[in-house]
Amino acid sequence: MTEQKSIRIALLGLGTVGGGVYKLLRRRAEEMPNIVGTELEIAHILVHNLEKKREGVDPALLTDSWETIRDDPEIAIVVELMGGMEPAYTYIREALQAGKNVITANKDLIAEHGGELLDLAQAHGCDLQFGASVAGGIPILRLLKQSLAGNEITEIMGIVNGTTNYILTRMTEEGMEFSEALAKATELGYAEADPTADIEGYDAGRKMAIMASTAFHSRVTFSDVHTEGISNITATDIKYAREMGCELKLIGVARQKNGEIEVHVNPLLLPQSHPLATVKDSFNAVFVHGDALDDAMFQGRGAGEFPTASDVVGDIIDTARNLVSGCTGRLGCTCYKSLRIKPIDEIESKYFLRMAVEDRPGVLAGISGVLGNNNVSIAQVVQKLKNQNGKVELVVITDTVRERNFRDALTILNSMSMVNELSSVIRVY
Ligand code: NAP
Ligand code: HSE
Repeated sequence: MTEQKSIRIALLGLGTVGGGVYKLLRRRAEEMPNIVGTELEIAHILVHNLEKKREGVDPALLTDSWETIRDDPEIAIVVELMGGMEPAYTYIREALQAGKNVITANKDLIAEHGGELLDLAQAHGCDLQFGASVAGGIPILRLLKQSLAGNEITEIMGIVNGTTNYILTRMTEEGMEFSEALAKATELGYAEADPTADIEGYDAGRKMAIMASTAFHSRVTFSDVHTEGISNITATDIKYAREMGCELKLIGVARQKNGEIEVHVNPLLLPQSHPLATVKDSFNAVFVHGDALDDAMFQGRGAGEFPTASDVVGDIIDTARNLVSGCTGRLGCTCYKSLRIKPIDEIESKYFLRMAVEDRPGVLAGISGVLGNNNVSIAQVVQKLKNQNGKVELVVITDTVRERNFRDALTILNSMSMVNELSSVIRVY
């Protein structure tokens, strides 16, 4: 190990995560010479609003000038915790071009520009680490990239959005409807003022793109991920799920088979025996299958000040150690393959289909005929009692079917007078 003066760090952002990183680095400051081999010093903190009161933070560290940080040759690590695409994208590029190592928690940016930024980092001999961009405090990217690097990973299934897991847990345990559970999530600070990215599955889709790229060594961007959210899920769907011995979860799925990848996020009926079915409230979990590892599940807090700071500080320490040993840029982009990403029409799933139908002879035969004609094989049919409008509720569970065939069948069912409403269409594990 070479003698090293302290390593100077700039934080970009001092919000939820930035504040946690600041506090955690201070909490561990005296131990850093033992952990890293030298001291870590926060030299600048970039914020948007210099007037905001920031308890316990030395005001002399605050700046609203990115150029001050970019042009300071003593800054070795830039920690981007502002979020969003711009100016984060520009600042990260400029930091790497200036030979500075970068740590970020920014899933929006990495899910879109991760490959290009990793190449830029490598070209400049720098580290670019983004562990906290997926599943907050669970160090899943480090596990996939390092500890599990000897495996061929074939499947990742994740509950990677805490807000939606919290909402579905309330709907399951208290029989709440979606809107009531969302209001509760907002009240508790889980859901943001605009919850669209969480409830429509975009946040989980970005995390799945990053995990799939890392696990399968082939670049997947957010636009490659088919996303379905939970805003149409009802308490009735969840009641039926439980009758079937299942839990309803928003699951990100990434699979690699025969040289092709599928990545999607959707509500899924999971048997209660599946480890992910037991993950409740705002917790995240990632279930991985590797050829050597077999099955494993990693569970923890996917968001929040300190759980997220835990992963960011882990990345800072790793890069600081690389600086001390003179080996930054050692681990760049690991996407050395270019696998085909299956369009959603080609993926195969089992389905739960709930519909309100006319109560007259020939209805069941008509519906099963449409499904059969489209190669949709039925595994189970349950006819429920009449609903409050006098219509019969029919629940069909299909065998594994190709998405395209199933969607074609749905289009025809939707146009039939005997089918009054297609109430729910949910994938089944
Ligand atoms: P946040 O609370 O909104 O904080 C954002 C910080 O960035 C604020 O300090 C803000 O300054 C600063 N900022 C924003 N735009 C800026 C600009 N143009 N110039 C200078 N400073 C700017 O955000 P957060 O929740 O900490 O999230 C940060 C990142 O971590 C995001 O990429 C997010 O996706 C990711 N992440 C968050 C969590 C979580 O639990 N929150 C978990 C995992 C990953 P002011 O203080 O002056 O407004
Ligand atoms: N909004 C995310 C969630 C946390 O609910 O899990 C940040 O990634």
